[in-house]
Amino acid sequence: MTASAHELCLLRTFLESKGDFVSGARLAELLGVSRNRVSSWIEGLEAAGFEFEMVRNRGYRLLREPSTLHGALLDASLTVRGGNVPVHLYAEIDSTNTQAERLLSEGVEAPCAVLAHRQTAGRGRLGRLWQSQTALNFYGSLAFRPQLPPGRMTHFTLWMGVSLCHLLDEGWGVPAQIKWPNDLLCGGKKMAGMLTEARIERDLTRDIIFGVGLNVNGSAETFPIEVRGIATSICQVLGKEVSLNALAADVIACLVTAYEAFVDGSYELQFKKYWIDYDCLNGKTIQARTPSGVVTGIVAGLNADGSLALVTEDGTRTAIRAGDVSIGSGVHSTP
Ligand code: BTN
Repeated sequence: MTASAHELCLLRTFLESKGDFVSGARLAELLGVSRNRVSSWIEGLEAAGFEFEMVRNRGYRLLREPSTLHGALLDASLTVRGGNVPVHLYAEIDSTNTQAERLLSEGVEAPCAVLAHRQTAGRGRLGRLWQSQTALNFYGSLAFRPQLPPGRMTHFTLWMGVSLCHLLDEGWGVPAQIKWPNDLLCGGKKMAGMLTEARIERDLTRDIIFGVGLNVNGSAETFPIEVRGIATSICQVLGKEVSLNALAADVIACLVTAYEAFVDGSYELQFKKYWIDYDCLNGKTIQARTPSGVVTGIVAGLNADGSLALVTEDGTRTAIRAGDVSIGSGVHSTP
């Protein structure tokens, strides 16, 4: 067994014990080593930010995890959830979307997840920058090779987005909503942004990369000044920090499952239901800044091609296919 395989086995055992004690003898037996060796590996984990309680005759129990992403813990958390996608974790990278693209073109196994503690050139929609300096948040991309016609991918980002809303809402008690086309909001403030990029060749979507930046444990002071009033994080919503590694494992498992349902077409019914549950724009007056100008109107659902249906002041129905949307008619619009 390599050192990281030992870490994986230890961490998996502690996760499965759900906070209970695991005896040194049991750990030694599981790993096929002496109890002294187990104790030195536990010390190694402590040096990496884990905290254990050790009680004579009872063994060890896990008290605290590192506050930033930890490769073996992430792998162990995914295994416990029944997931087995490879995770490429970087301390620092330009952009996880760009790195995912590089890895796919090198022929790595897909699906895979590409995560980073920090991004030096995190990308947002419309050429914007996604600030990614704090390792307390989630910056990740899921890379897939769908081999489907581009026309089949119309709802991809929206489906992945509502799937994340469902996970945050049901799994983490965070009432997230989707704001067409790529934002996740909570209490009217932006909590996450999604960026999907695809490589299309000979009428097939060969590669698709779904990137998400999710504010997890970042506090208001860690947001760039210009977005402080309009951004939020899971920690701010819940009033307490959450386990970044557990959340990252849930996000990866959720997105891989959502992708599988998307590819086999079984997502469709669920998508309609989730859209009703998690869309924050329906029936609202919005202002859409589109490539052909600013349009104001009331949102009347989602069209079959994924565009936003809008009824303007004069009663005309129009479709918004691209652009930025803010809630309200322009003055004091959010976000
Ligand atoms: C937006 O709201 O404009 C989309 C932001 C998407 C940011 C994420 S962070 C992980 C992935 N890597 C990137 O460079 N961008 C996405």
